[in-house]
Amino acid sequence: MIAFSAMTSTGFSQPHTGLECDGVAVAEIAEAVGTPLYINSAALLRSRFLALEQAFGDYPHALHYAMKANSMLAIVGLIQQLGGAADANSIWEIDVARRAGFLPKDIVFTGVGKSGDELAQAVPLGLKAINVESAGELDRIEAIAKRLGQVARVAVRVNPDIDAKSHPHISTGLKINKFGVPVDAARELIATLRERPSLTLVAIHVHIGSQITSLDPLRGAAAFIAGMAMELRHGGVPLEYVDIGGGLGISYDGTPVVEPAAYVGALLDAVRPTGLPIVIEPGRSIVGPAAILVARVIDIKPRNAVSDFVVIDAGMTELMRPALYGAFHRIEVVRPRAGAERHYEFVGPVCESSDVVGRDRVTAPLEVGDLVAIRDAGAYGSAMASNYNRRPLPPEVMVSAGTWRLTRRRQTVDDMVALEG
Ligand SMILES: Cc1ncc(COP(=O)(O)O)c(C=O)c1O
Repeated sequence: MIAFSAMTSTGFSQPHTGLECDGVAVAEIAEAVGTPLYINSAALLRSRFLALEQAFGDYPHALHYAMKANSMLAIVGLIQQLGGAADANSIWEIDVARRAGFLPKDIVFTGVGKSGDELAQAVPLGLKAINVESAGELDRIEAIAKRLGQVARVAVRVNPDIDAKSHPHISTGLKINKFGVPVDAARELIATLRERPSLTLVAIHVHIGSQITSLDPLRGAAAFIAGMAMELRHGGVPLEYVDIGGGLGISYDGTPVVEPAAYVGALLDAVRPTGLPIVIEPGRSIVGPAAILVARVIDIKPRNAVSDFVVIDAGMTELMRPALYGAFHRIEVVRPRAGAERHYEFVGPVCESSDVVGRDRVTAPLEVGDLVAIRDAGAYGSAMASNYNRRPLPPEVMVSAGTWRLTRRRQTVDDMVALEG
């Protein structure tokens, strides 16, 4: 097995002139757009999508990109052009998916808490499926479908009680987690569907967590769903497909992780005997390594005998993962200076002690004004950004075929206060 990022010649590289994205100098983009800013590589995104897609060969499948990882229009639009489909976690993500060109039949609606208003808007759209999280939610969907004289397509999300062996904050498949319907309750719920003509069961669904770096839990989830699909078929409940969710991890620190081919191979081994098409909902594994967050050093001050604090102009407001989960992201100097490497604690500008972007790092010597790149920031980075401290949402750039374009301008205070009275 090898790390994803080592598999492609496109993306981010560090020739002696400084960090590049698909051959375009990162410093050039940062000078033009300002910092902090996200830079996305279209080529890397494309190659990562295709690696998953091609691993299925001719086995029937659909890749429903998990928009929660990054729902920027430019990215969702690129996935659409590549022949992907969408997994939306709110009615607003459904709206963005449709603006990006997806038809309702290409969208699954997931999420542990869909409000009455969201369901009232979603049911009439005729989505590929609403992935149902509880008996109560199923009742609410049924009532809306009945009122409209429609048949709603639903998938039941089953909680298989499988440990994803990921960070507890992003593990979702254990009994103690809020997600899905426990197995026995799911069986009972599915049995009620025979007498509910406003609902049609199209699939069963699992999603056991995110940033899963070993194959066993993913294989276990696939075996579980295949077994349950067979059991339902024998009980006279045929399905259209099985939905195995997302969760494939990426290498944030360079250690090897599961390759797409090995992942898809494990899914195929488990599901092939059912003959059912496979839906997956990958997010991080497609977009995670395809973007960097570029920041400028705004201050350097002594920390202890061996290291300094480096204050950069990006922090938990632009990339919350380190503060939220203690997540690790590599930090690279965009144009390394000559001289002995130094020890640094990279911290953000936000008024919280948890606003640390990288602890105990060793890099080329830095000076105020230098640029640094925070790697693998494409998933759950921009999507979780906030206006805390009235910091504007950062601009986004997409590099494609040797040129770059601004896909989101920097937010202004005018933008923010326009919503206020
Ligand atoms: C239901 C569901 N599907 C898909 C995903 C995407 O997961 P990942 O980005 O790890 O592939 C998530 C995120 O946790 C999710 O909750």
